[in-house]
Amino acid sequence: MTIQWFPGHMAKARRQIEEKLKLIDVVIELLDARTPLSSRNPMIDEILSRKPRVVVLNKADMADKQITKDWVAYFEQEKHLTIAVDSTTGKSSKGIIALCQQAASEKIAKLEKKGIQARAIRALIVGIPNVGKSTLINRLTGKNVVATGDRPGITKAQQWIRVGQELELLDTPGILWPKFEDEQVGYRLAATGAIKDEILNVEDVAFYTLKYLMTAYPDALMDRYELKELPSDLENPHEIVEVMEQIGKKRGCLQSGGVINLEKASLVILRDLRTDKLGKISLERPS
Ligand code: G4P
Repeated sequence: MTIQWFPGHMAKARRQIEEKLKLIDVVIELLDARTPLSSRNPMIDEILSRKPRVVVLNKADMADKQITKDWVAYFEQEKHLTIAVDSTTGKSSKGIIALCQQAASEKIAKLEKKGIQARAIRALIVGIPNVGKSTLINRLTGKNVVATGDRPGITKAQQWIRVGQELELLDTPGILWPKFEDEQVGYRLAATGAIKDEILNVEDVAFYTLKYLMTAYPDALMDRYELKELPSDLENPHEIVEVMEQIGKKRGCLQSGGVINLEKASLVILRDLRTDKLGKISLERPS
């Protein structure tokens, strides 16, 4: 695998977050509900452990409902207030605000005791690129204050964003990359589209995804591609490639001489996964 993790970028993001630390009451940690641990930035626990945290499992509309429930229980066990949301709708905004209030209640009570009047809670949103930070901020504010679909690397102006009377938000300063030490993390992030297709070999990502789907969601796979049966030996790579070829054949991914174009077949599988065509899929479950 050729992904590189740039320590320099991480050090910069860390500095930028640490500078803001004194100003914030609560951290909103945004994770992808389909890949909660893989989409987690490894530095957050270390730098922000002393701040109350609300874990938001975003894109829950695309994840397996039961597994998302298990993840909520997992993060609650870590003592974080946790909620699963679909940021493309505004439905969960109230729930997130309520959890932020709950998380900050001790600090606000302390301030009140000192005679300092109640003020808006200040929350820092942290999350890796593409996890949905801009979308969530726009939903919470009800305005398009942040451009969505930005590619990583674009520097955003730092600003406090007001959410009604209750909350002030600050977007992640700098870019928080996921950590790809584990090869599977890279594949999961590539499968959901959290990292660009050019970074990893698309056929490798589709192979990994297909193998996972065969184990975890065989019915969804068989339904979608009208497959009569799946191989029993998933440790045999040839059998997985054979399934990929069957899918390619069904979807017309052919090159000259009637040979299946595996790259095109791979793109079909990944597009179907990312657009819900294979149903609600979670790529990671609590162990
Ligand atoms: P970022 O600021 O953390 O980098 O992420 P951003 O909000 O730009 O969201 C990345 C992509 O994820 C966007 O799609 C956005 O619409 C989508 N998204 C965010 N939250 C959710 C969610 O809860 N559910 C679903 N299904 N999708 C979500 P895009 O196609 O890259 O951009 P756009 O065309 O929507 O602007």
